[in-house]
Amino acid sequence: LSEGPLAGRHAIVTSGPTIEQIDPVRYIANRSSGRQGHAIAAALAELGAKVTLISGPVALADPSGCTVVRVESAMQMLNAARSALPADIAVCAAAVADWSVVNRSTEKRKKKVGEAPPVIELGPNPDILATLSRAEAARPRLVVGFAAETQSLIENAQDKRLRKGCDWIVANDVSEGSESFGGESNTVHLIDSVGVEDWPRMSKAEVARRLARRIAATFET
Ligand code: C5P
Repeated sequence: LSEGPLAGRHAIVTSGPTIEQIDPVRYIANRSSGRQGHAIAAALAELGAKVTLISGPVALADPSGCTVVRVESAMQMLNAARSALPADIAVCAAAVADWSVVNRSTEKRKKKVGEAPPVIELGPNPDILATLSRAEAARPRLVVGFAAETQSLIENAQDKRLRKGCDWIVANDVSEGSESFGGESNTVHLIDSVGVEDWPRMSKAEVARRLARRIAATFET
């Protein structure tokens, strides 16, 4: 049996991008390395939690001590998250595509000389964070979302916390020059019902460890 402040707790972590198929050889996707989400999964496991990491396609090794479920689309990610319930903690760090392709083709679309390019029709994807936050009896006790913004970071993140119904939002600035995308470090703000905590710039591994310790502290009371 594992030890640590989160022993006996189950955490669901989503990480990486989702990809939405256009046809068997083409897709649309979001920009995400999965580094922050994977680091959070590892940090929670380090504190003794049983971790189910649900990940879109990434070029990262599986973090040790986690059960990894690999998915491609947002719909698959939602189904995997639902199947992983019940959980005490959910951290949604995945960059989920907002839309899926409604007119997805089961055969490769052929490029024909002189013909207009195909029109890709998009439809909304389910919101995994909002779904978990509103799961009523199955709602994890602590639900944490992310907000990557390029402007009005805190204001947008506070709105997002209320709109999605989650407990905390980790807000990070992804404007040009912030070097958050794909890089090793991150500057984040933790937003809860009380206010905003500004964290100094640190590595994604340190953000993950600090977040995991904060999560553990809420389970001690
Ligand atoms: O709405 P937006 O994508 O900016 O919200 C970001 C937060 O919501 C992240 O925590 C992300 O993982 C989550 N999210 C989700 N499912 C979606 C869209 C976003 O879980 N379809």
